[in-house]
Amino acid sequence: MNEVTHNLVSDGYGIIKNCISNKLLNKIQKSINNEIEDRLGKTITNNTKNLSKNYYQLKKKLSQFEIQKILSKRLVQQNLIDELFKEKKLLENLIYLIGPDISYLLDFEMAISDKGNKKEEYYYVKKNHQEFWSGMGLESLQLWIPINLKKGMGTLEIIKSSHEWGHIPHQNREPIRLPKKYKSIELKITNGSVALFTALTLHKTIQNNHDEIRIALPITIKNFYYPNFGNSDLFDFKKIQYSFFTKLRKKLGNPHFSPFRTIKLDEIDEI
Ligand SMILES: [Fe+2]
Repeated sequence: MNEVTHNLVSDGYGIIKNCISNKLLNKIQKSINNEIEDRLGKTITNNTKNLSKNYYQLKKKLSQFEIQKILSKRLVQQNLIDELFKEKKLLENLIYLIGPDISYLLDFEMAISDKGNKKEEYYYVKKNHQEFWSGMGLESLQLWIPINLKKGMGTLEIIKSSHEWGHIPHQNREPIRLPKKYKSIELKITNGSVALFTALTLHKTIQNNHDEIRIALPITIKNFYYPNFGNSDLFDFKKIQYSFFTKLRKKLGNPHFSPFRTIKLDEIDEI
């Protein structure tokens, strides 16, 4: 068992360290910045220095919710999420964890944390919750991929081993019962690494007091052969990685294994 698997099993979360190149992170940051510049009617630059400033300017015109939706869609349309999953170390670790038939939830939403987010805005400053409450099944894994994360911004707070407590009773998006003793930890992660946790791992947002915005991508992944233990069947998943078995099935074209389906008739000998 590798370290990430071990941590996931015992603590309910793990980190795949240094698995995304700076080149790809920069490309994603630039794409985000360019969309914001475009919406502001500015000249498109390839410089992300003003990303946070641009964001605060756009927030005067659009809600944070709308901005997050627009930006997530853009990353999907530009195939940048697909590119993320092509990163060698990330892909190898995911294959080890859930097998080689991988899909990701298309309808994810970029998580932006800015210093203006108020504690009462539950949507941006989430209290302790399990993804299971929103339909994610136990067969899936939640990735948390930092895109713009600097020292002092904070990350997520996770309750260690809470994935072993089952479905936690909840109301108004927060637990109504918790064990008397538990241990919360702040996720220690930097740009280029990817955190992952189970659908039952309790976690919450740490407010970002930095002048710049924190950007992370919370993306759900699953092996598309695993049975659904949540509401996964209601969501749109995109297949991005196939095993040998799936490749062969696709090649054969149908489950009846039609003989010589792809060979011309005159190339087949009657015996
Ligand atoms: Fe969450």
